[in-house]
Amino acid sequence: MAYSATNRSISIIAPARGVTEALIRRLVETFYGRVLQDPDLGPIFKQALSHRWDEHLGIMVDFWSSIALRTGRYHGKPHVAHAAFDLTPDLFGRWLELFEATARDVCEPDVAAFFIDRAQRIAESLQIGLGIGPKALNLAPAGRS
Ligand code: HEM
Repeated sequence: MAYSATNRSISIIAPARGVTEALIRRLVETFYGRVLQDPDLGPIFKQALSHRWDEHLGIMVDFWSSIALRTGRYHGKPHVAHAAFDLTPDLFGRWLELFEATARDVCEPDVAAFFIDRAQRIAESLQIGLGIGPKALNLAPAGRS
């Protein structure tokens, strides 16, 4: 049977109220400013992005704008982008800790909760895709039993 969601309001996928492009820009700039100063995360970002930092910030504004405002501006592949680094659950934990603190500093509580929820879900999905963390699938490499 075809399933219609036409008359339903599903808050979990609705664009976040109270979010503006200016707020996203402030969140992104504040967060990555703190990331750069972090002893564990900073070096990873500096090494990967030292010559294209502003481009990265622009991509991240597009990314969050696509999520929060459904602007569709982000067309990248986050799983592929993270595969080049030796990321660990601890690094993801630190990333989330910094992101959550920044969202709470920069946004109203309900808006912060929205960004934090999305970041947690995406962090989990990235870790599953990278085969790390408690939910890693640990699939055997192709060709081996
Ligand atoms: C251990 C945690 C993380 C580290 C160290 C990390 C590091 C990086 C680095 C170095 C890049 C630049 C890749 C490149 O262009 O060469 C990047 C890109 C990106 N990251 Fe992360 N990241 C982390 C977690 C996350 C999380 C949790 C999210 C989402 C909530 C995220 C979203 C993105 C996106 C959207 C891009 C842009 C990918 C593209 O170019 O399309 N990252 N990250």
